[in-house]
Amino acid sequence: MPDFPGDDSPIALNAYEELAERYAAQIDTKAENAYYERPATLTLLPDVKGMRVLDAGCGPGSYSEWLISHGAEVTAVDVSPTMVEYARRRLGPNVAVWLKDLSKPLDFLDTASFDLVLCALVLDYIRDWGRLFQQFYRILRNSGLLVFSVGHPFTDFLHSKRPDYYATETVEATWTSFGIPVVVPYMRRPLQEMIDSIVNSGFAVEKVLEPEPSEELKRKCPRIRKGLSKLPKFICFRASKIQKVTSISEAAME
Ligand SMILES: C[S@@+](CC[C@H](N)C(=O)[O-])C[C@H]1O[C@@H](n2cnc3c(N)ncnc32)[C@H](O)[C@@H]1O
Repeated sequence: MPDFPGDDSPIALNAYEELAERYAAQIDTKAENAYYERPATLTLLPDVKGMRVLDAGCGPGSYSEWLISHGAEVTAVDVSPTMVEYARRRLGPNVAVWLKDLSKPLDFLDTASFDLVLCALVLDYIRDWGRLFQQFYRILRNSGLLVFSVGHPFTDFLHSKRPDYYATETVEATWTSFGIPVVVPYMRRPLQEMIDSIVNSGFAVEKVLEPEPSEELKRKCPRIRKGLSKLPKFICFRASKIQKVTSISEAAME
């Protein structure tokens, strides 16, 4: 059972406020992101030219920038005011960057208005995936895609103090790789719960990736490569919205 009854506050807000300046400065070149997570997640994207895309948990906006440079029309959301500030600076005045908590209803976004939701390295901080995925389902058009990356459930379990793989729990890690020690709380959950949340929200899982170190990472950071070739740090999913047909006449209209 989850260990967070009744608590609805964004668990990693303080940590990301503390990290935002360094995160924004380093994210384009930081090995685990630039040469490992991002290249893997990007392989799951379709050709985004002309697509309306939600960058959910945009941070300082590096994914949004990539999407725009590949022809997408982007809307971005993040809960950290400093991250939003960096994203606005980076993306300019023509991109809507909302300061919003993804754990709350996304009422500011229209139903069936997006072709793709990209949610990179954010679901680690979301307690109730089902509630958020229902919102993603609502704002996506039929057959729209949800692509996300998240901490790998097996590797995250190795950091758990509770010897129960099946538990969903809040854990903490002290990150030092951005140059200062920051305690980052995050959620750990079993793979089964991840898949159930996707499928029960009306999506079909199309592809799952347990990324291996890229050639670039192997060349640039042999130390990181060694660890990552034995244990996947992240897992990436691509899922598509299944259309709910409520009547035969509705189906005939499609
Ligand atoms: C690891 S960063 C990923 C940023 C970006 N997606 C990337 O890959 O560069 C996680 C981001 O999730 C945001 N975040 C955490 N909890 C959130 C929530 N409840 N609602 C919206 N954003 C959240 C943080 O503020 C942070 O910017």
